[in-house]
Amino acid sequence: MEMIEVEDYQEMSRVASQFIIEKVQLLDNPVLGLATGSTPEGVYKQLIEKRKQGNVSFANTSTFNLDEYVGLDGDDPNSYRYYMNEKLFSHIDIPGENTRVPNGMKKDLEQECGQYEQLIKEKQGIDLQMLGIGLNGHIGFNEPGTSLQTRTHVVELAQSTRKANARFFDSLEEVPEQAITMGIETIMASREIILLVSGERKAEALDRLLNGPVTEDFPASILQTHPNVKIIADRAARSLMKK
Ligand code: F6R
Repeated sequence: MEMIEVEDYQEMSRVASQFIIEKVQLLDNPVLGLATGSTPEGVYKQLIEKRKQGNVSFANTSTFNLDEYVGLDGDDPNSYRYYMNEKLFSHIDIPGENTRVPNGMKKDLEQECGQYEQLIKEKQGIDLQMLGIGLNGHIGFNEPGTSLQTRTHVVELAQSTRKANARFFDSLEEVPEQAITMGIETIMASREIILLVSGERKAEALDRLLNGPVTEDFPASILQTHPNVKIIADRAARSLMKK
């Protein structure tokens, strides 16, 4: 894992968006893996800005999001499909059909998971996957205890994750109990990964990622075994790192 030290959230967002733009400009049909949450919001703002300036086109880009809540449809402001449309897709020139987010409204969720894997395969896999990290080490919605051999699957969300995400909902009760997520193996199959870490509250998770053992108890630790991972971490997130 390569560590890229940045000063703050702004710089993290700029550096990460630059990696994404370089990939999009380099490849004929780039395939990006995208995340939601607070961490990538600044990256999406940068990408929109760069698109507006005419520096990059996403016309040939395909995207796969990491995860989606079960039971929320794309019009629900708390769904990840809605988030992606609002924060990125509606503001750039990517064709709608090239943007994929798991569909948590499908009757047969297992089938949806299988189809999602199939679609990724048809696109020859993900060129660049962007990740955030949960306080408990989750990536996507792969919570501690998830087998490291999983593909896209349905998960029960940890209570701590529901609490952490309740800030976006009116109450904790409204946070769905299940989600669809790319599995650890799906994420690990990406050719390149950038993991974004910002803020003091993530410092412990970053320390454990860098110095802890590879274990299902801390899913992000598996990234230690991926050949091409860049961690972009700001000063606050690095506050527990040994000098
Ligand atoms: C979101 C996702 C999650 C988040 C993680 C951190 O698609 O996959 O793993 O990356 O929960 O969330 P934030 O960025 O809100 O701290």
